[in-house]
Amino acid sequence: MAANDNRQVITVADPEALAATAAEHVLARTAANNGRVAICLTGGSSPKQLYQLLATEAYRSRIPWQRVHWFIGDERFVPADDPLNNMAMARANFLDRCAPAANIHPIPTATADPTNPDRSAALYEQELKSFYGADAFDQARPLFDLVLMGVGPDGHTASLFPGDAALDETARWAVGVPKANVEPFVPRVTLTLPILASCREMLFEVAGGDKRAILTRLFAGENLPANRARSTGETVWLVDKSALPENFRGQ
Ligand code: 6PG
Repeated sequence: MAANDNRQVITVADPEALAATAAEHVLARTAANNGRVAICLTGGSSPKQLYQLLATEAYRSRIPWQRVHWFIGDERFVPADDPLNNMAMARANFLDRCAPAANIHPIPTATADPTNPDRSAALYEQELKSFYGADAFDQARPLFDLVLMGVGPDGHTASLFPGDAALDETARWAVGVPKANVEPFVPRVTLTLPILASCREMLFEVAGGDKRAILTRLFAGENLPANRARSTGETVWLVDKSALPENFRGQ
């Protein structure tokens, strides 16, 4: 299968339009599920505007907060209140104002052994399995309704870095990553590709001219982590014009 199979690319004018389009995807996924909804968030700077938008009345009033659960696809291995912590960023921008505390599922970096991200990953794996209600996936029942993703300058996504053994993990749901390829250079915990794939929709947000070089490589099909991450359902890339490769003609 070619790396770009099963990927829809949606281009938008600017980061504002990107956040608004992503917010509509969040609303659509919550509306499509009458039961318990699971959304896996991402860190980095790209989703910040989306998170702020979700906290505004226009969106906030349309999200069934009591039945939506929020997870995180990767975490920097720093305490929960450290500004570098991905879930802390999501909390500060919308979750703490909108979501019931019991529906927020951070990767437990603070309670785990501070020298061992694998231990923290194992605890999160247990939490995910308990939420899902099984130790193995049923293809017909994805873990997440929506998984948000970003792309790093080296083609990493979540904390799955090029050449890292974590990319080939098929058994564990989450793993420790001792060394990050990009700033901040702290250990990480990341969900693995099969777990991230277990979703109805995987939605990448990519914005800004500094992403154009890596998008050119990714859209050319290079074997990089962001090209290996895809949903068993839909995989959608939201890209703003400034990030779009010059030779892009649609996919
Ligand atoms: C992290 C992320 C990471 C991020 C990309 C893009 O913890 O750093 O989850 O995978 O999504 O690096 O980051 P930006 O949005 O800041 O470009």
